[in-house]
Amino acid sequence: MRKPFIAGNWKMHKTIPEAVELVTELRPLVADITNVQIAVCPPYVALPAVHDVLLGSNIAVGAQNMFWEEEGAYTGEISPRMLKDLVTHVIIGHSERRKYFGETDETVNRKVHAALAHGLLPIICVGEVLEEREAGKTEEVVRRQVMGAYKDVPADKARVTTIAYEPVWAIGTGKAATPEDANHVIGHVIRATLAELYDEEVAQRIRVQYGGSVKPANIAGFMAQPEVDGALVGGASLKAETFAEIIRIASHVRK
Ligand code: 13P
Repeated sequence: MRKPFIAGNWKMHKTIPEAVELVTELRPLVADITNVQIAVCPPYVALPAVHDVLLGSNIAVGAQNMFWEEEGAYTGEISPRMLKDLVTHVIIGHSERRKYFGETDETVNRKVHAALAHGLLPIICVGEVLEEREAGKTEEVVRRQVMGAYKDVPADKARVTTIAYEPVWAIGTGKAATPEDANHVIGHVIRATLAELYDEEVAQRIRVQYGGSVKPANIAGFMAQPEVDGALVGGASLKAETFAEIIRIASHVRK
């Protein structure tokens, strides 16, 4: 059985004091949750402080991005070696990175390899944009993104990864996918592609989250779907109470 995984992607929000306040409030609110894995992904500069507040808690810390090289003349970049002491997880290939920072399936693949080589657990984002969906290309696009991200990644490494299916038109729009639709893409496209790349056992092991306008009012519907293993939450993870409520509902649905 796959343990559900709820992660908060804070994006470019929160100063260091604001980040500390959020996780200080969040920690006791979810301290009793054992059947859902929890993570927060703050901006780089808040990672050390957040790491310290969450030491010994049931909340993991992740980064939102990283470069693939270990060190060198790459102004402005952060390497997996630098992150290793602060985080266990790293989001790779978020659609905003693909859209604004030129990330491609190839750079995503390099980052996935680098993360795994350093023992970081990647949360790999895939998802179609609105025009692709309207043109009936969702399956083709998502399949290509999964194939690209896992190129030359061996099965034993692939097992520890997480995928976030985030239809781009659902991100920050308040217009979430339907739970049935998310379940269909995750089962029939993402897991089918993983089974093709590896085998059914690996495909059944990799956790796949849904992301895009997840909130307390709709999380139960997603968690009730057999293929949906949790959520990558943006806006609704910026308030401790709201994020805790999402986690609590997810925990109840899966009991
Ligand atoms: P929202 O939850 O704000 O729609 O963002 C989703 C997302 O992009 C998480 O990575």
